Order: sequence, then C-alpha cells, then structure tokens
Amino acid sequence: MITGGAGFIGSHVVRLFVKKYPEYFIANLDALTYAGNLENLRDVENEANYRFEKGDITDEARINELFDQYQFDAVVHLAAESHVDRSILDPLAFVRTNVLGTASLLNACSKHWAGDINRKLFYHVSTDEVYGSLGKEGFFTERTPYDPRSPYSASKASSDHFVMAYHHTYGLPVVLSNCSNNYGSHHFPEKLIPLMINNIKNHKPLPVYGKGENVRDWLWVEDHARAIDTIFHNGKNGEKYNIGGFNEWKNIDIVHLLCNIMDKKLGRAKDESAKLITFVKDRPGHDLRYAIDASKLNKELGWEPSLQFEEGLEKTVDWYLQNEDWVKHVTSGDYQKYYEDQYAKR
Ligand code: NAD
Ligand code: DAU
Repeated sequence: MITGGAGFIGSHVVRLFVKKYPEYFIANLDALTYAGNLENLRDVENEANYRFEKGDITDEARINELFDQYQFDAVVHLAAESHVDRSILDPLAFVRTNVLGTASLLNACSKHWAGDINRKLFYHVSTDEVYGSLGKEGFFTERTPYDPRSPYSASKASSDHFVMAYHHTYGLPVVLSNCSNNYGSHHFPEKLIPLMINNIKNHKPLPVYGKGENVRDWLWVEDHARAIDTIFHNGKNGEKYNIGGFNEWKNIDIVHLLCNIMDKKLGRAKDESAKLITFVKDRPGHDLRYAIDASKLNKELGWEPSLQFEEGLEKTVDWYLQNEDWVKHVTSGDYQKYYEDQYAKR
C-alpha cells in the first residue's frame, strides 16, 4: 500500500514503483483532499499491478477492509497535510491526519501483521522540518534532536515518534526518512516554486515573505522517489535516513532565477517579471534555514541526487508551461478562496 499517492511526491513514488516493479501489486490509498489529484497518475491508472482506493487514513474500518482485501506486505506512508501556511490557519486538521492518521495505520499494521510481523515493513515518509531551524551554520543529521516549531512540523514530529514507538513496543519493522524541500512536476501551486511560476506567467504579484532571506535545501522530486525506493529495499530495520539535495538557496534568489528563466521562455524583456516581486508580511514563526546532511544515505546505501538545480528548475518551468490544463483544474474553486485568505491581508 502507498498512502497519499495522488499527491505531489506520492504520485512520483507510485509511478516509479508501478513501472519498475511489475511483480508488485500496488494499492494507492488517498482521500483526494484539495491536494490529491488523480490526473497526476493518468499514465499508470490502467496498469495491471495498480489500483486506486479512495479512503481516509483516519477511517479504521476502511483501512481494515483494505488490509483484509489485499493482505499488504508493506506500507509506504506519504498521506499528510503538507503545507505550513495551512497548518497555521487550521492546526487541528494536521493533528487529525498526520498524527491520528499515522497512528491508525500503525495500529492496523500491528494488528493485521501479528504472527508474521518480521516479514513486513512500514515506511514512514517525513520531513526535515522536525529538526527545527538552523542558524547560518551547520546541518541536520539523523542525530539532531527534534525541535518542531510550526503546527505542521509538530504533527510530523509526533507521527515520527509514533512510528518509533510501534517499532520498540510492538516489534513493527519500520524505516523512516526525513527529506528537504522537493520541487518538480505536479507540485500544488500553494508552495513557493509552483506558486511563483503560476504568478509570473499570469503577471500577478510575487509574494516573498519577510526579506526573502530564508534558506531551503531543494531536491528534485524524482530523486526523492529514487531515495524512497533505495531505502525501502535496502534500509535497515528501525533506522532513519536524511534525504537532501546538497543545494541551499535563499528564497529571493530562487524567485529571481525563476523570473530570469521565464522571461526568456515567455519572450519577455530582461528583468520584466522581477518587477512583480512584492515583499509581504512574514510567515509567523518562519524557520530561517534548513540544510540536510544526507551522507548516511550516500555512504550506506549509495544514493545521490541526479540533477543540478538550474536544470531541474528549467524542466519544472517547462512542465508547468506545457500543462496549462492541470494548473487550471487545480487552481479553480477552493484554490482561489485559499489564495485570498492567505495573501489578502499580507
Ligand atoms: P501533498 O499535499 O501534495 O499530498 C498529500 C496527499 O495526501 C494528497 O494526495 C492528499 O489527498 C492525501 N491525503 C491528505 N490527507 C489524507 C487523509 N486523511 N487520508 C488519506 N489521504 C490523505 O503532499 P506532498 O508534498 O506530496 O508530501 C507527501 C509526504 O512527504 C508528506 O508526508 C510530507 O510531509 C512529506 N514531505 C514533503 C516534502 C515536500 O517538499 N513537499 C518534503 C519532505 C517530506
Ligand atoms: O522542508 C521540507 C518541507 O518543505 C515539507 O515538509 C513541506 O511539506 C513543504 O511544504 C516544504 O515546506 P516549506 O514551508 O519550506 O515550503 P513552502 O514552499 O511553503 O515555502 C518555501 C519557502 O518560501 C519558505 O521559506 C516560505 C517562503 N514562501 C512561501 C510561499 C508559499 C514565500 O516567501 N512566499 C510564498 O508565497
């Protein structure tokens, strides 16, 4: 079972697993919230080794029914509320899905796998935000103490703790990974990179929080999916692995880079799009810097990122320009309301 497979990263993981492992049967459990979109999986939806199952990870009866039906050997868990700004608007939605939902899945695994538990695996996909915020120096390692500072990161940290608690208490085999910021195709345009691409294209203001000095470590989403594949197959039971791009950027520099790339692609005058940059009120509790030390994953399992950022960003811009219908569908209705609530007052 892959949970959250209709979302941004989940759809890349589903695509990789369905195509690379025809001998696996993969059920994708997803509630199709605003962030879940079956259009992300059009190219695999008719594959013989794949099935979509609509359902909520907090719905115990539904999870039990699926375990009875499919007799899962493994769960790769990505379903989550994933946007920090939304967690500030509605924290309890994050407690519900990220904490209660993860605990419900863990419960179902330990119940259904009792007797044969050592041959199973629960893979929990988590975030570097659980480690808190760095100053100008240093990196997050797997031993960095947890210090979550937003409702989103607190809910993910809690879910990580539940995963380890089920491992220690019930002997559930688990692996866990904490990844930095992803970018690439099918990224919902509430997040920095796709939001800026969409606004540049439509000549809308580019809302940069604070002074734009916050730093994130960006990774091509397909490299994250490859890392998940590597850890799923070769990671050690009970261990966690950091995943990152060795690729730190200030937000303002990314926005300028996107403006330059898009001015060229859209035939606009040099520096035309940068005029849209608008500094707005900062995100409350905004973490200054994330940077991942992914050397454990590199040394022990041989994974490394495949793409340079500038090349990945060009590919990403091309995907958004070539998939206008996808953007139109996900930015209609609820998106407009969210956008007004989030940015009107800034
Ligand atoms: P996303 O918001 O794009 O997708 C989340 C998916 O989960 C959606 O398809 C949604 O419908 C589904 N979902 C939400 N609530 C659900 C529920 N209650 N029951 C069943 N399905 C539900 O998220 P994403 O960016 O693809 O992130 C996937 C995972 O990776 C998350 O666990 C996130 O914390 C983690 N992560 C994300 C990033 C990143 O940069 N986006 C980086 C590191 C880790
Ligand atoms: O680090 C991993 C995390 O990365 C994941 O766990 C989260 O699911 C994912 O959403 C992402 O969190 P961030 O908060 O870092 O991503 P976001 O794209 O929301 O913001 C990136 C940076 O850009 C952050 O410093 C805030 C800033 N920003 C964001 C938006 C949406 C702006 O300046 N303006 C904006 O409009």
